Amino acid sequence: MYTTPPRMLVLGIESSCDETAAAVVRSDGQVVSDVVSSQVALHAPFGGVVPELAARAHIENIVPVIEQAVSQVPGGFAGIDAVAVTNGPGLVGALLIGVQAAKAIALSRDLPLVGVNHLVGHLLAVFLRRNDQDPAPPSYPFIALLVSGGHTALYEVRSPSDLEQLGQTRDDAAGEAFDKVAKVLGLGYPGGPKVDKLASQGNRARVPLPRPLAGRRELEFSFSGLKTAVAQYVAAEAANLDDAHMADICAAFQHNVVSVLVDKALAACDRRSVPRLVLTGGVAANRGLRALAAELCQARGVELFVPPFASCTDNAAMIAYAGSQRLILGEDDGLGLSVFSRSPILGVTAQVAEARRFKSSRLPRPGGV
Ligand code: KG4
Ligand code: ZN
Repeated sequence: MYTTPPRMLVLGIESSCDETAAAVVRSDGQVVSDVVSSQVALHAPFGGVVPELAARAHIENIVPVIEQAVSQVPGGFAGIDAVAVTNGPGLVGALLIGVQAAKAIALSRDLPLVGVNHLVGHLLAVFLRRNDQDPAPPSYPFIALLVSGGHTALYEVRSPSDLEQLGQTRDDAAGEAFDKVAKVLGLGYPGGPKVDKLASQGNRARVPLPRPLAGRRELEFSFSGLKTAVAQYVAAEAANLDDAHMADICAAFQHNVVSVLVDKALAACDRRSVPRLVLTGGVAANRGLRALAAELCQARGVELFVPPFASCTDNAAMIAYAGSQRLILGEDDGLGLSVFSRSPILGVTAQVAEARRFKSSRLPRPGGV
């Protein structure tokens, strides 16, 4: 029977969307290597991720990216104790590339293999240690606001294997709304950083926009109405769109997004009596979000944790760490591991059960993907 080494080194692999990534992380969160190959330039001309192009690029990139990550481990592959791979949610064609690579490594080196829910990876990324200056991570339980291009949701995280989703977006993810607004303004893809930069130069009071679901009790979000309001405003003002006006639009849009995000996150802290908030996902890089969260958390006595940017965006280190926490519990999915494109996150245990049900109903034989 497999027994967990006290400080195992886990190879993590991530290919759920438009980043091919591999990393090696110690089970205490120490990052040994972290390689991310971004496909942003490949998808930029299309204004969003094209699933088939993403899968083909993963095929080309996966081996060199893994080799680069493992080359930084003393002893190379011989120093790796287990493999963790994102097996959902995400683009199925893209996920399969990472999962197949992980299976090949696990099979050839006789290593345990665990699937990791991408969202759980984001939620535990705050425990990654990249250098000695990293601030201390939160203690459990904490509230997490996960804001990325594909997801916007609030969770109570009680332990690595006990997570509860408290609310999510009813339509667009926050990052998706940033990207779409940037597209309407002709700023290019991905739009978040561009809107962020312009917003810092704008006057938000000049542009009237809605604050969707603000002040309501639900811990849910909705950004598609706000995005449409921006598109309608831009169409009506097409003749007057100089740089200053664009900056004002970005400032108003960004403020309305981040103020709703922070309000609901703090409402979740209140409701659960948990005075710790973690921001994660690509949108956690947003300067407006960080500033407002810092200000309001301080005013409300809530401790705020924001992982470094490399941990907030898609990466494989968070997958390796989340996988290590499953391995510590003695879990091993083996070569029958399959992928899933969507799933409501009720808790890791429920997720695992769901992934296993899916696996056993579709893939009775190991290694069948
Ligand atoms: O987590 P991530 O790297 O990928 C996933 O979607 O899983 O997040 C990418 C998203 C994109 O929508 C991007 O526009 C957004 O994060 N983003 C930002 C900023 N930096 C990245 N949004 C707002 N402000 C930023 N500074
Ligand atoms: Zn992500």
